[in-house]
Amino acid sequence: MKRFQHHVCYVTGASTGIGRSSALRLAEEGAALFLTDIAAEDLEETAKLAREHGGDVETRICDVSDETQAGEGIATCVERYGRLDVACNIAGILRFAHTHEMSFENWRRILSVNLDGVFLTCRAAIPHLLETRGAIVNMGSTAGLMGLPYGAAYGASKGGVHALTRAIAVEYAQRGLRCNSICPASIETRMATPEFPKGVDMDLLMRPASLAGTRGPDEVAKLVAFLASDEALHINGEEIRIDGAALA
Ligand SMILES: NC(=O)c1ccc[n+]([C@@H]2O[C@H](COP(=O)([O-])OP(=O)(O)OC[C@H]3O[C@@H](n4cnc5c(N)ncnc54)[C@H](O)[C@@H]3O)[C@@H](O)[C@H]2O)c1
Repeated sequence: MKRFQHHVCYVTGASTGIGRSSALRLAEEGAALFLTDIAAEDLEETAKLAREHGGDVETRICDVSDETQAGEGIATCVERYGRLDVACNIAGILRFAHTHEMSFENWRRILSVNLDGVFLTCRAAIPHLLETRGAIVNMGSTAGLMGLPYGAAYGASKGGVHALTRAIAVEYAQRGLRCNSICPASIETRMATPEFPKGVDMDLLMRPASLAGTRGPDEVAKLVAFLASDEALHINGEEIRIDGAALA
């Protein structure tokens, strides 16, 4: 199946985990890719793997939380390929802390990467996506739908991503642009092995995951590709859980 032939897809957070798997899935289905991240070596490895599917792949180091870099990333992609069909906002960070001990700096950093970053890329991408009647896929989280203990900033950022997604969907639906978010849980990536502060109640933290079990990032990549494709033409403003019934 080549759902993305002649399509240009922009992916943030493409160096590892869900971002890498999504990039490879889109490449497999014929997309030309513009991949960004801050981790240079891993990004080149993703690009190398994606090129094995035969399509065009460009990379660029881009911190999504930096207004200039986020804007230039999209602009360079459109300069290179002449169009943009899909923007996948997958870059993200997770840091745990007791909320009453969390530094403001840490709070700001998490909001800045996970929420500002999605906004900045969407803002730059929307004018181009309107020309192609394209799609945005944002990586939310079940943490944006339920309380994640020790993850207040992360949960707030992902709740923000869901709200931003719905706003964009409603604002641009009549002009053919779609915007959806995905809410994964317990996906085996680097993010799934974070550091914990002292005194964390692991039973409280792992509540939903104990039901769901864990899955690899390829599971999420399939959903990214579906939502980005024309098969999901009437799905807009959704947040779709992919959590093995953890929150059902
Ligand atoms: N793994 C899970 O269980 C899970 C669950 C829910 C949501 N998510 C979300 O999925 C997305 C991908 O996470 P993952 O699990 O693949 O983890 P990951 O750590 O493997 O991937 C995150 C990627 O984001 C990049 N990144 C970090 N800060 C960045 C910045 N400032 N600018 C650009 N890139 C940056 C990293 O270098 C990395 O490549 C994240 O948004 C995460 O919140 C993951």
